[in-house]
Amino acid sequence: MDALIVARGLHTYYGPSHILRGIDFNVGRGETIGLMGRNGMGKSTLLKTLMGLVPPREGSVAIQGRDMTGRPPYEVAQLGIAYVPEGRGIFGNLSVVENLKMAARPGRGPRADSWTYERVLETFPRLKERLGHGGQQLSGGEQQMLTIGRALMTNPEVLILDEATEGLAPLIARDIWRICELIRASGISSVIVDKNWKHLTRITDRNVILVKGQVVFAGTSDELRAQPALLEQYLGV
Ligand SMILES: Nc1ncnc2c1ncn2[C@@H]1O[C@H](COP(=O)(O)OP(=O)(O)OP(=O)(O)O)[C@@H](O)[C@H]1O
Ligand SMILES: [Mg+2]
Repeated sequence: MDALIVARGLHTYYGPSHILRGIDFNVGRGETIGLMGRNGMGKSTLLKTLMGLVPPREGSVAIQGRDMTGRPPYEVAQLGIAYVPEGRGIFGNLSVVENLKMAARPGRGPRADSWTYERVLETFPRLKERLGHGGQQLSGGEQQMLTIGRALMTNPEVLILDEATEGLAPLIARDIWRICELIRASGISSVIVDKNWKHLTRITDRNVILVKGQVVFAGTSDELRAQPALLEQYLGV
């Protein structure tokens, strides 16, 4: 498989706290991966380690075949990895238009497949109605759409979404899921963290469950659904 991200033997610490304890994690081209686990198990820390926001003390991260261990986040982003962190990372004092246009970066593929300003607005009609609004005047769901739209404007190879539907009204969350499916259909790989395992496993090719900084399950959605005891034990559902 054409590997976009290959992480091996990751150990990550915050000061003396040993959080990731030997994680292997791969993302192949076109794959949609669900990353699950209860609160505090290390999901966000794994994403931050892949992005170079928190360097691992041991192990390696390769992106598109290049060793990026210990490299800064902007270099990881330049290799086509877009990251939408927990909470909303928009620029509140910039307008919707400005938030989107500042992120624009041409795609590597054929031009027709590129995410452009126009295509993002077609995908998020709610944003179209609020172009001149400042980021902080948007609802939580609109802010989330703006962060995802901005990530798409960089024409990434991999989109990483950390709890994109957290705290959103069900209808808005459904819209975010629709967009995840669109992104999947467009061939962009994604890594999605979400508490809604039922919806998540509907759109993922593979799923990884973390417990205390270790991988305790890796497999397809069908394999996971066939083992309800695991869901109960590891996710508490
Ligand atoms: N900046 C930090 N400094 C110190 N400890 C941290 C820091 N960020 C996270 N931790 C700790 O690391 C552990 C893993 O946190 P992480 O945020 O990766 O978990 P998570 O699986 O994303 O949880 P959640 O589902 O609540 O988002 C937790 O025990 C958390 O308290
Ligand atoms: Mg988290």
